[in-house]
Amino acid sequence: MTTPVWDFVRRYAGADAARLHMPGHKGVPLLGCEPLDITEVQGAGELYGDSALLTESRQNAAALFGSGATLYSTEGSSLCVRAMAYLALTLRPNGTPPVILAARNVHRSFVSALALCGGEAVWLWPETRRSLCACEIPPAALEKALDALPAPPAAVYVTSPDYLGGLADIPGLSAACHARGVPLLADNAHGAALRFLDPCLHPLALGADLCCDSAHKTLPVLTGGAYLHLSARLPAAFFSAAEGAMALFASTSPSWLTLASLDRCNALLADTWPRELRRTAKALEKLRQRLARAGWTLRRGGDPLRLTLAGDGAVIAARLREGGVEPEYADRDFCVLMASPGNPQSHLDRVADALGENDLPPRRPVPLCMNPPERVCSVREAVFAPRETVPLEKALGRVCAGIPAACPPAVPVCVPGERLDRDALALLRALGHRSVEVLTER
Ligand SMILES: Cc1ncc(COP(=O)(O)O)c(C=O)c1O
Repeated sequence: MTTPVWDFVRRYAGADAARLHMPGHKGVPLLGCEPLDITEVQGAGELYGDSALLTESRQNAAALFGSGATLYSTEGSSLCVRAMAYLALTLRPNGTPPVILAARNVHRSFVSALALCGGEAVWLWPETRRSLCACEIPPAALEKALDALPAPPAAVYVTSPDYLGGLADIPGLSAACHARGVPLLADNAHGAALRFLDPCLHPLALGADLCCDSAHKTLPVLTGGAYLHLSARLPAAFFSAAEGAMALFASTSPSWLTLASLDRCNALLADTWPRELRRTAKALEKLRQRLARAGWTLRRGGDPLRLTLAGDGAVIAARLREGGVEPEYADRDFCVLMASPGNPQSHLDRVADALGENDLPPRRPVPLCMNPPERVCSVREAVFAPRETVPLEKALGRVCAGIPAACPPAVPVCVPGERLDRDALALLRALGHRSVEVLTER
């Protein structure tokens, strides 16, 4: 597979041009990568514009992911999430309200997208909630929620995989959406690599219409590199509006290092990387079995490239760090590890050695007893209204104005415009928040 961006950047780095253009480092190596870090010099073109190099590279990516079109982001999935919401809201059929029916475990970028685009969410809550990160919505529950709305929404939005590796039933959810003429949007930030597993678990292949992947999270791509995929099923209007939607929210200074990295990754994905990914998935499954034999409780049936241990995450993470392993995420109920072909078998062995036998006292996960809160005003109204920061002890009954979401997992406990009740405050406290932004009272 061709690598036009990577080739161009390398050629430019080797050409010894006097760089009387941005960036100010002029290609002089301080970190080491500066010679490759270019800008829109002659021949490179604009990311959302006329670049022949990027057009060819994106077409390569689209072929690899089986999309109708794939766009690049150097600002992560956060940018793509805003573009997805914008597309769904602006291209909704006449008479459709600016509403997105969304599973509640959204990343904070979705909430900022609502504020920026003036959309409103109707939230889907799971039947039981064991983690802020997870929100299981069976297709039957989605059908019921869709049919209960006065009019079909502009879109349905799910996060899959979630931070714990849970996978939504995309075939079932997309069937429920498509039967009602509603597009399904998937935040697949954590699942770019799912495309290359056997069977393929990528949301686009399973029925999603628009989908974002943080390539940098699971593929050998520099931080910030992400894809916005459009399904070939989408109406033409989505294809003509997609670049404009990305450009609306994006910087005019994309990282060409990251673009070169996305481009270089295409060649790996067309070559040995998928085989390596499948090998990693198998090795992780063996590690799960080994850990289960050692008494550890693991979440099963989710993202094959993620290993999620149930138990006091902080304690498990400390044990891993002592053994020379840095986990991806730990909270009071779970510890999450992410693997890729970049991890040799010795890293996985190190996990098993660091954890040893599970001698931790048994612990029940703390249930999240959050009832759907009262909505006082729209997300947009709350985000743009005068605000103040108050300690949690003084926040009961006040209206949330910020997006309280520690990162990771950056899943908001409450959303701007919602009244803060005892449940929300208890959860904020449990997650280490001390204060919260609220609307000023008139
Ligand atoms: C579920 C989810 N969606 C979106 C994002 C944003 O992705 P990025 O960091 O690539 O902007 C994240 C980031 O962690 C995430 O966890």
